Amino acid sequence: MAYFRDTIEQMAGYTPGFQPKQADVVKLNTNENPYPPSSRVVEAIRNLPPEKLRKYPEAAGDSFRNAAADVLGIRPENILCTNGGDDLLTICFRAFCDAGRPVAYAQPTYSLYPVLANLQGCERIEVKRDPKGSLDKLARIDAPLTVICNPNAPTCDFISVDALAALAAKLTGVLLIDEAYVDFADDNAIRLTNDYNNVIVLRSMSKGYSLAGIRFGFGIAQKMLIDGLMKVKDSYNVDTVSIAAAAAAIRDQAYLKENVQKIVNERTRLTEQLRTMGFEVGDSQTNFILTRCVTQNAKDVFDALVQRNIYVRYFALPGLEDKLRITIGTPQQNDLLLDALKEIVG
Ligand SMILES: Cc1ncc(COP(=O)(O)O)c(C=O)c1O
Repeated sequence: MAYFRDTIEQMAGYTPGFQPKQADVVKLNTNENPYPPSSRVVEAIRNLPPEKLRKYPEAAGDSFRNAAADVLGIRPENILCTNGGDDLLTICFRAFCDAGRPVAYAQPTYSLYPVLANLQGCERIEVKRDPKGSLDKLARIDAPLTVICNPNAPTCDFISVDALAALAAKLTGVLLIDEAYVDFADDNAIRLTNDYNNVIVLRSMSKGYSLAGIRFGFGIAQKMLIDGLMKVKDSYNVDTVSIAAAAAAIRDQAYLKENVQKIVNERTRLTEQLRTMGFEVGDSQTNFILTRCVTQNAKDVFDALVQRNIYVRYFALPGLEDKLRITIGTPQQNDLLLDALKEIVG
């Protein structure tokens, strides 16, 4: 007997970004924040009494819900804590999709969506992404679950919140807005969760808050949706250490803003310098840029960077074969990247 379900046998799993073992590399390939988390996070972890570790964690992560509600001006009951933003995506696919209930999204986007659809055995309705037309197409499809990544990965662009509101109003299914990168953007869609009972906003602590290593994300929606998603999540999907760390991080908004500003400044500098060197670079609302290599094959440039211990991301996917995705690093890391690219492209 085959051990795995047919879909598992046939599907390809998600490919995480490469994590090099050596420390002395310039790592600009997985959209991590180049700066450390707030010192309050380390303090919060250090101050955890061992007794707290002996017991199961808060089932709904209430300490984090209270902290996030204070900071974001919403109510704790409108927040679902998750084991990274990816856990919220898994929960949503499990809650809203099955063989008769498809998911719809525009490509290119976050490569985990098709993997989760395959795991769930639901049909994937993929439309071609273009900033204007794809929302109309998604509205006409009106799938049980529509996912919009905003700002989008890997294209870095941002769909206006008004356009998302218009989409939410047309859909009879759920609209999941993946805001993993929104800390680096000019606007966000939290306010839509007041006005629309079908909107879920995803947030991640991995990017703006420099906490990719602890795995914490959360969803924001009206109570009726949060209560339903609570039934689907693992009983203890967030642990005591990460609840304490994430709560301390979100309370330190001054530190978040300082780091975001540094990254946004470097994003502008890197974009301008690359354009001067002849690369095509779209405007970005994220902590990375997507650049088209005009004079050379993108995979060759990627390989030449690896030889110099500089890691960026290359996707051998339709529409992305001629591009590189580059995470914004520290000024020093970005200088090393620019110097290497000058050598490579001449
Ligand atoms: C678009 C997008 N959504 C969600 C996530 C999930 O982030 P995490 O699980 O680290 O919170 C990522 C991670 O890279 C992402 O790129």
